[in-house]
Amino acid sequence: MYELRSVTKRYTRGKDTVDALAGVDLTIADGDRLVIQGPTGGGKSTLLQMLGGLDKPTEGEVVLDGTDLAKLSEARLTRVRSENIGFVFQSFNLIPTLTAQENVETALVPLGVKTKERRERAAEALASVGLGERLRHLPSELSGGQQQRVAIARALVKEPKVLLADEPTGNLDESMRDEIMDVLERMWKELGLTFIMVTHDSAIAKKAPRLATIRKGRITVKENAAS
Ligand SMILES: Nc1ncnc2c1ncn2[C@@H]1O[C@H](COP(=O)(O)OP(=O)(O)OP(=O)(O)O)[C@@H](O)[C@H]1O
Ligand SMILES: [Mg+2]
Repeated sequence: MYELRSVTKRYTRGKDTVDALAGVDLTIADGDRLVIQGPTGGGKSTLLQMLGGLDKPTEGEVVLDGTDLAKLSEARLTRVRSENIGFVFQSFNLIPTLTAQENVETALVPLGVKTKERRERAAEALASVGLGERLRHLPSELSGGQQQRVAIARALVKEPKVLLADEPTGNLDESMRDEIMDVLERMWKELGLTFIMVTHDSAIAKKAPRLATIRKGRITVKENAAS
């Protein structure tokens, strides 16, 4: 479970300061699915970075299962991240010289998983996103939707508690968008993940059980009874 208390992230450049987050309080239960929307520059990606321990707040607490990520050393934070948190971004961020299987395996290296088990688990993860026949393909030999599936497999192969997705369908055309959303939804249900996703897609936002809107660094959360 996440508990954010008075989280502020202030960027300073010369005399200019921007509060990308301005006092965010937020609780996210285990297994929850939270969709985040809001105007560009509102602070969505910044919030995801705080949740993922990719960056630390200027003020406030980001508590994940009783541990305040803001207080951890870089080394411990890296460990929490590689064990517990999967990321999927708009740009797939695959390594171009590695095959699909090798890209997925990279998530298991910091966990000390041995080569043989790494290969097997990567192959299983790719099969679970429908890419069992594409293990040896390079990213350049895959469609956008397929590349994003590889990225999803890479995020999930370590069996994280949390999946964070920042506009995961932003670079895809409409048909692939639905495909990727279906994969993410299925993974969320099957794996019991806590799933937090930023999207500009109003159709997805409309269907979300819990919808957060971030504007100028401030958050409002709405429960959607109809979903
Ligand atoms: N590294 C940085 N240095 C300075 N300012 C930053 C930095 N990162 C973000 N900001 C500023 O913080 C604010 C929030 O940015 P953020 O990327 O979180 O917005 P966003 O809601 O994700 O927008 P988008 O929909 O365009 O992705 C913006 O005003 C942005 O310019
Ligand atoms: Mg963003």
